[in-house]
Amino acid sequence: MSDYAETASAKARALLEESVVSYMGRPVGTVAAMDPGLEALNYDQVFTRDFAISAFAFLLEGRDDIVRNFLEVAVELQSNERQFDCFKPGQGLIPASFKVETHGAGQRLAADFGEHAIARVAPVDSGFWWLLTLQAYGQATGDHTLVRTPPFQEAIRLVLDLSLVTRFDMFPTMLVPDGSFMIDRRMGVYGYPMDIQAQFYAALCAARHLLATDEPDNAPYLAAVEERLGHLAYHLRTYYWMDLGRLNQVYRYGVEEYGPTAANQFNIQPEAIPDWLMDWLPEGGGYFVGNVGPGRMDYRFFAQGNLLASAAGLSTPEQTVALMGLYDTRRADLLGDMPLKLCFPALAGDEWRTLTGCDPKNRPWSYHNGGNWPMLLWLFALVALEAGDQELLETTLHDAGRRLVREDWPEYFDGRAGRLVGRQARRRQTWTAAGYLVARHLLDRPEHAAWLRLGEHVDAAGCST
Ligand code: GLC
Repeated sequence: MSDYAETASAKARALLEESVVSYMGRPVGTVAAMDPGLEALNYDQVFTRDFAISAFAFLLEGRDDIVRNFLEVAVELQSNERQFDCFKPGQGLIPASFKVETHGAGQRLAADFGEHAIARVAPVDSGFWWLLTLQAYGQATGDHTLVRTPPFQEAIRLVLDLSLVTRFDMFPTMLVPDGSFMIDRRMGVYGYPMDIQAQFYAALCAARHLLATDEPDNAPYLAAVEERLGHLAYHLRTYYWMDLGRLNQVYRYGVEEYGPTAANQFNIQPEAIPDWLMDWLPEGGGYFVGNVGPGRMDYRFFAQGNLLASAAGLSTPEQTVALMGLYDTRRADLLGDMPLKLCFPALAGDEWRTLTGCDPKNRPWSYHNGGNWPMLLWLFALVALEAGDQELLETTLHDAGRRLVREDWPEYFDGRAGRLVGRQARRRQTWTAAGYLVARHLLDRPEHAAWLRLGEHVDAAGCST
């Protein structure tokens, strides 16, 4: 490791340590950020999704205790009562975040299931991040006793109850409200956004490994997971995938088709193909589009869903090669000066007005709307290593490390190329440091990538291949 990389890793490690939160004398999580210059709002809480990346960093560094404690706290906080009260969290929900409150000499955990969060957004992804953290804990430590305990087995079943329930729609994908995951503001990411579907796939793969096969209560869950995995994989690989061939097919689609032989099943109007896509999509490159719904194709590129799809084995090997090809050809757009672009392109003009509701924090090329988020580096590292793209990862990390240290670990960067520290970005953001640390570690010790394995390739019948 070069000197600069040593320094950057040491600083990231120190920030991660500083961010640790204790409860009853035990470390249980990390706060989201510690920027002394900005009001904390809820950034002083332990977010389930943010902590997953801290957990991966801790596991790679051999600090298992905090991860184990976090996993236990999350089970304790999981909502486990069947609810008809619409103001209470649904059974099985894991909080978006929690904080430790001190009352006199005692301490208490206060969970937020979205009822306090800005815009009151539901954390659809929390249960999934908890499952992925639990899986990584077992893979990295070899400790499979925790997951086998009755409360943990029950907690897994509750997450599955909540996510596999049949509702009004009849698709293998999961229907979610706007802003219910990492993008936790209005951004037109409702319906069946790829970020959630890819994570759903990874979480189902994890559940399949973590549910004990000798436990009779688990049998129907294991069967349901296997079935859903096959349908979900087929659906996403077929209808969400976009490359030049597929674009041409959509461009020539017939519409208003009825019945089982329809080719254009969702009645997508070719006229809705955005102009930017025709020139932007390179020969040999491809990605999963943001959303597919009745008559709706959201052609935006979302990094987290695409990278998760590759890391979890949802993409076919050819699709992963095409995704890395896209990253390579469109480096300026998708990696930029500070990797990685969260969503491309940004919503602007009328689209920005309608879909974000004129949200100034999400104005074009800022924050979720086309900002660059270094916390994604861990995921990029996993995919790049699997695709054998060591060199791309090395250059990406080299430039990022220097800038992150200089700017003190900002939450996100703004501008088409991500050159400016985000207008409202916090500094000393924990998952920025953790994301870098994980990526750096994996580059130096690629054999540890197996500890963070997020899923496996499943065919249309739900069988691992
Ligand atoms: C922002 C992000 C969200 C993250 C939180 C804490 O709200 O959009 O994904 O969990 O900050 O870092």
